[in-house]
This record gives sequence, C-alpha cells and structure tokens, in this order.
Amino acid sequence: MIQVKRIGHATLQTPDIGRLVDYYTTILGFRVVARTEGQAILATGFGQEVVTLLRGETAGCIRLSMQLTPGSDLGEAAVALRAHGIDSQIETDPSPGLPAVLTFTDPKGTVIELFSDWKSTTTVPAEGGINPLKFGHVAFTVPDVQRIVDFYVRVLGFRVSDWMEDFFAFLRCGPDHHAVNFVRTPKTTLHHMAFELRDFAHVQTACDFLGVRDVPIIWGPGRHGIGHNVFIYHRNPDDQIIELYTQIDLMNEELGYFEPRPWHKDVPQRPKVWDRKSAMLTWGPPPTPEYLRSRE
Ligand SMILES: [Fe+2]
Repeated sequence: MIQVKRIGHATLQTPDIGRLVDYYTTILGFRVVARTEGQAILATGFGQEVVTLLRGETAGCIRLSMQLTPGSDLGEAAVALRAHGIDSQIETDPSPGLPAVLTFTDPKGTVIELFSDWKSTTTVPAEGGINPLKFGHVAFTVPDVQRIVDFYVRVLGFRVSDWMEDFFAFLRCGPDHHAVNFVRTPKTTLHHMAFELRDFAHVQTACDFLGVRDVPIIWGPGRHGIGHNVFIYHRNPDDQIIELYTQIDLMNEELGYFEPRPWHKDVPQRPKVWDRKSAMLTWGPPPTPEYLRSRE
C-alpha cells in the first residue's frame, strides 16, 4: 500500500515564466536551482525544491510531487498503483534534487510524481524575500469532492483531518493538519498554495514586506478554525492565491487528536465536521471579495 508522507513541489504552467520567476525570487525569496528557456526550478532557502515553472498557454498547477518513506522502492509503488488499475512511469533525474519519480495522473487530471529520496540543492541559507520554511499545502477546487477524497485516501494513504460541511475537505499525510484540500465548485482548478512561516513575528514581517511592495493582502491576518493556522493571503502575478501561515495544528497520531498550538475550543480536538462560520475563523476579519472570487 502506498503511504505518502509529505507533499514535495508543485509544477505551475504559466504564460509568462519571467514574471513568475521574479515573484517567487524577489517576493517569496526562493532560489532558482535550474533554468532553461521554458522551465525554472525553485527551492527554499535551505534547498528543498518547492515550485517548478513551465512555459504554457494558460496558468495552472499541472503536477504535484509527493514523498514516500525514504529508501522505498518506486517499482513496488508502481505495482501497488497497478493493483488500483493505474498505469505509471518512472522518470529519472527530473530535477537537481530528485534522482527519480514515479508519475501517474490523478482523477482530476493532475500528474502526481512520487519520490522516495531527495537532496538539498544548496548549503548556503538564502537571504532576501519573505523566505518561507516550506511548501505546506495545496488546495484544488473540484466538482466532486468525495470522489477525489476517496482516491487520495484509498490509493495514496491520506487521512481526513476535517470537513467544512460537505463541500470542503482537509487531508493530511503527516503531522501537519492538512497537506491537500479539496473544495467543491463546478470547475477543477488550483485554489491556493500555502507556504509555512516561522512564527507570528514572521507573519508580521511578511505583511510589511508585501505592503511596502504594494502587493495587496486579500484576507487576514486571522486565525482559521479548521487547522487553527494564523494566515494571510495574497495573489501571485498569475492571479493564483498564495497563503502564508504559521502555527497549523499538528496531529498526534498515537493519541488521535491535534495538539493545541496554543489553544482549541474542543479539548481534545479530533477530526470532525465543522460549520462554515466556526471553520473559517477563530478571530480576524472576514474574507474579502478579492479572495472569494476564486470560489465563484
Ligand atoms: Fe490553506
């Protein structure tokens, strides 16, 4: 059985690769670790690949990599996928940090790249930009949320952390409350990508950094109910929502509940179905129309 342990990097297709390279390097502070005419691979300050940009007609997230247990055999993962009727292919040396990936397409059309081992692309910490710690989660809109949740649970080993009513699912593959989200809309598309900051002070630094550069914050700062992360949202030059967050709930699998960071209204906080209002916010302003238009 396949058991994904964390999400790796997202591959974004974009009509203007230079504009996105500029955003991800000067605003988020990621570093270009490989560049060709139609492709750029970016990594965090300590060399973990987070975003690959590919030139294409339209903007969208076309691939998502996921890590299996280090040292695990991609051939065995291919056999496990075959048992679910899924064909997959091994690609070698796809990027500076990955020796090999096993690729297949999920039911919403995203190419999933499974890998077991990776290496850092740098030994020198990055300077400048907001400089998040990691790529924490990615959210997609889909017409049939239950169908894609079933696939991620049954085929990839994800666990359901929480539901917002019956239209918004939060799934984890490690200690973080969620690594992928699926929200119901008529169209299948990327909803947002989220990068983790160190702490609340780092969120403030990010607010000031965006403010000075006239990048509007479209929701936040606030603290969500589901996941309890402190968040701010803005848009990248391809009009995709980027979340910067800290203090997301961590699951204690042995005990079956989320550790308070620093507090919860439910004690202990276990996976459940939330109503929309308490799920969205424990405190902070309501979402702006500029945020909400991505779900319309
Ligand atoms: Fe999020």
